[in-house]
Amino acid sequence: MAELTSKEKRKIQKKILQLRAEIGRHDRLYYKDSQPEISDFEYDCLKNELLYLESLLPEAVGTLGVGDDRSGNLLTRKHYTPMLSLENTYNLDDVFNFDAHIRKLLAVEKDIEYVIEPKIDGLAVNLIYEKGQLRYALTRGDGVEGDDVTDNVKTIEGLPLRIGYVPDLIEIRGEVYIDYDVFQKINMERVQAGEAVFANARNLASGTLKLMDSEAVRLRRLKILLYGIGGGNNFEKQSEIYPFLQKLGFVSQTYYHVIANLERIAPTIRELDRERKRLPYTTDGVVFKVNERVFQEQLGATAKAPRWAFAYKFKPECAETILRNVTFQVGRTGIITPVAELEPVNLSGSCVARATLHNADDVAKKDIRIGDTVIVEKSGEIIPAIVGVRLENRPESGLEKLNFPTDCPHCGTRLIRLPGEVAWRCPNVNCPEQVIQKIIYFTSKTAIDIDGFGETVVRKLVEFDKIKTTADIYALKREDLYLLKNFGDKSVNRLLSNIERSKKTELWRFINGLGIPSIGEKMAKDLANYFHHWDALATASVEDLERIHGVGQKVAQGIFDYFRDSKNLKLLQKFHEIDFEFEKITAQYNPYFEKKMFVLTGTMQQFTRNQAKALIEKNGGSVANALSATVDVLIAGSHAGQKLDAARKKNVPVWTEADFIEKLS
Ligand code: IVH
Repeated sequence: MAELTSKEKRKIQKKILQLRAEIGRHDRLYYKDSQPEISDFEYDCLKNELLYLESLLPEAVGTLGVGDDRSGNLLTRKHYTPMLSLENTYNLDDVFNFDAHIRKLLAVEKDIEYVIEPKIDGLAVNLIYEKGQLRYALTRGDGVEGDDVTDNVKTIEGLPLRIGYVPDLIEIRGEVYIDYDVFQKINMERVQAGEAVFANARNLASGTLKLMDSEAVRLRRLKILLYGIGGGNNFEKQSEIYPFLQKLGFVSQTYYHVIANLERIAPTIRELDRERKRLPYTTDGVVFKVNERVFQEQLGATAKAPRWAFAYKFKPECAETILRNVTFQVGRTGIITPVAELEPVNLSGSCVARATLHNADDVAKKDIRIGDTVIVEKSGEIIPAIVGVRLENRPESGLEKLNFPTDCPHCGTRLIRLPGEVAWRCPNVNCPEQVIQKIIYFTSKTAIDIDGFGETVVRKLVEFDKIKTTADIYALKREDLYLLKNFGDKSVNRLLSNIERSKKTELWRFINGLGIPSIGEKMAKDLANYFHHWDALATASVEDLERIHGVGQKVAQGIFDYFRDSKNLKLLQKFHEIDFEFEKITAQYNPYFEKKMFVLTGTMQQFTRNQAKALIEKNGGSVANALSATVDVLIAGSHAGQKLDAARKKNVPVWTEADFIEKLS
């Protein structure tokens, strides 16, 4: 390349300084505040640009370091051996360059054996066991010392605090994360409570791990997967570590492949990319590790990362499209959610036409305007989110700034913002949209579950003035239902019998359906297990409520106030007059199910998915959506596909429908 002129050098130097400052800012947002403003992909692009410019100007090279996640609020402690980061790429060619580089450094001709495994998008922790006893759990920190999060890590279910391997010291390393469905639930509850949502599961996990209150941490159900050993590693191969860790009682990698050379690299990556979509947690790539430890030691590390490991990251699927409109939806508790209406665009095979904009702060921060070209990304692989705006595409004449409404779009009441909340709410409990949303929720699958009583039916019956509250559903007459479009004798009979049937149900469904602030499905189940009837819940004191595991002062006060509000009392009076028959859910301690995790696949003859799930839960088990290391049994109905193949391959026990019925009895 031609010599750079001094003017060009100055320009590059200036850009390098700008990029370092920008990366430094994003590092603070990501590691310390758990509130990043840009996606990992955009961040990696900035870093790569910096590396490139630094390669043009070797005199400007500074260390990038490994970031720094120390929060400043927690005690810190040194790692015995430093915790490094990983070099990463989005380009498959670099994987071959990595292999060539390694062979050159080792001066070997023969093939190198690699372990390839999922890269979990959580945060790294170091577990220090002394004589078999868990002494400290530290975050990576600056690589040399990290935050002491021992008490919080000890809340992780199933993590062995004592192990049957008792050297003076062993450092076991892995990733703390939160399952995707828990992340979604927590965010949903936060929306209901008017609190800021977490952008992705990783931020939630890292924010949680640094909370000062371990009881609050326990409720967030953190998980941990271990994939490495720092100090005290005596293994000859990386691939020996995972079964060893599993034997000690840890959750470790099960989806790893050992490959003798790079020949099968592309299909292996493709397979892991397919498999990761079925995992309950978010992954953002795969990690390559040289399998032989003698080689690992020979290769050593740079200041930032080991030379023997390398991450290939999957590009998030993103697309550009036009923001057509922003609508403001009113939820069942009055919270206003801005929703981006998009020019439909294809994203990982599905057509995306809407994305949430979370709240007013999010809209203001992104300064998104109608008519803008926006970038939509499948964040956490499932929910589409708007991650940025192409300002350069904004017409020169500009676009109008988006105004968050001051009044409710449905009833015109002035919106309010409660102290400490990010959400704006419509305070009018009679707001027609709030009423509709409350009834939709009450009849939904996570509450009283009336089949056939969906959004269209609710909207029509409210419009015809046949229902004003959830309790009115039970006073509906045959002639009211004939008013519904396309409802003949058959559909009317079916709906009436479904309404009737919903009176005999589990108590938690009713409690959840009431829409008490901060009470979601899980809390409703805990309350139903504690109180025999909702009357007992309604008359409980704040102190009584606080005695229940997981109920804090704020939630207890919210429940107490709900049952003392005159409008709610009027509604409950109506419910009193309905002959409900509530069953409690009590685990029957069936050893085949208790504390076991199940995945359902295929079609069963005798049960729907929801019925099978309810039975498993009643017997003390739980149900996940995807196969993972924590799944104990796959129940396969007829026409089971990939999940069945995967379970057989991973030696996960498989039950048929007949096995399931036998174990239930
Ligand atoms: S090995 C010294 N294996 O990725 C070797 N890291 O971007 C470093 N990570 O700090 C770690 N899944 O937090 C390894 N299967 C995996 C991983 C993994 C996720 C994280 C880890 C690391 C970061 C680097």
